[in-house]
Amino acid sequence: MQTLLLPETPDGVNQAAKVLTRGGLCAFPTETVYGLGADARNSTAVAGIFHAKGRPQFNPLIVHVASLEAAEKYGVFNEDARALAQAFWPGPLTLVVPLRADAGLSSLVTAGLGSLGLRVPAAPLAHDLLQIFQGPVAAPSANPSGKISPTTAAHVVDGLSGRIDAILDGGSCEVGLESTIIGCVTTPTLLRHGGLPKEAIEQCLGRDLADAKEGEISAPGQLLSHYAPSAPVRLNATEKLAGEVLVGFGETKDADLTLSPSGDLHEAAANLFDILHQANALNAEKIAFAPIPEVGLGQAINDRLRRAAAPR
Ligand code: TXA
Ligand code: MG
Repeated sequence: MQTLLLPETPDGVNQAAKVLTRGGLCAFPTETVYGLGADARNSTAVAGIFHAKGRPQFNPLIVHVASLEAAEKYGVFNEDARALAQAFWPGPLTLVVPLRADAGLSSLVTAGLGSLGLRVPAAPLAHDLLQIFQGPVAAPSANPSGKISPTTAAHVVDGLSGRIDAILDGGSCEVGLESTIIGCVTTPTLLRHGGLPKEAIEQCLGRDLADAKEGEISAPGQLLSHYAPSAPVRLNATEKLAGEVLVGFGETKDADLTLSPSGDLHEAAANLFDILHQANALNAEKIAFAPIPEVGLGQAINDRLRRAAAPR
């Protein structure tokens, strides 16, 4: 299959919506990462996502919609879920809520669970696409399973060209990390660190989030080894060893690449996956990362780096 590269013009967005309408697969930019979208009501289309990514299991997918009002057609929002949606949508937050019996979504989207992950993305192009398509779009990150997430159209071309119908090119993703996932089926629970810092969510709720219970599969797509570049990854590196590409943060000595020269966590988040792609291309024996502080977005950055460094 030849993959069409669509420009970020009204015509490009219209064509992307048409691909979705006819049951095709279209990658599109959100403010977090590029998603690989399909009509969430069409099981054949959704199955195509798993096939294109080479996903080993049918993990549940996040459904993207244009507004909270649209989201309420598919999921049941309790008071906490509604407060979070009102405070942070559109934005880098996914809410897992009970699935409505009349949602009409493919059961592949929820992997047969009784809950559903919903998100209203903020990137203007994603918003336009969802408005024009006027339906729910299931979309995981647009990378082959287990590989580095894509934050540019070029990353998507590298990973999925020839396996999907189209890519809507909207440049670089502003946040650069996947959405934070909060379970709102019962007590609000942190299921995945991401582009919205946990502290902001706790402030909005006026209380601490519960942590997903140890050993409980809460976000089943959260594999230990993920985001893996070709070379092994070493974390908390305080010096560069022979054969290594060293990725710095702040004033790291001997750094080959840097997540943020000034030590800014937002900049580091936005650069993270692109730096992993760049480090990969250097064919180093090992990729070392300087320590990143475990606060704010640093928690999500460290989560992704630990998975990139995990035994494969
Ligand atoms: O920023 C993002 O969230 C991006 C963009 C494209 O929106 N999407 C993304 O999707 O990261 P994906 O498939 O790579 O990760 C989705 C995560 C998985 O870990 C999955 O298990 C979890 O969401 N998830 C989805 N539905 C769920 C549910 N009902 N219960 C628990 N976890 C769920
Ligand atoms: Mg992913």
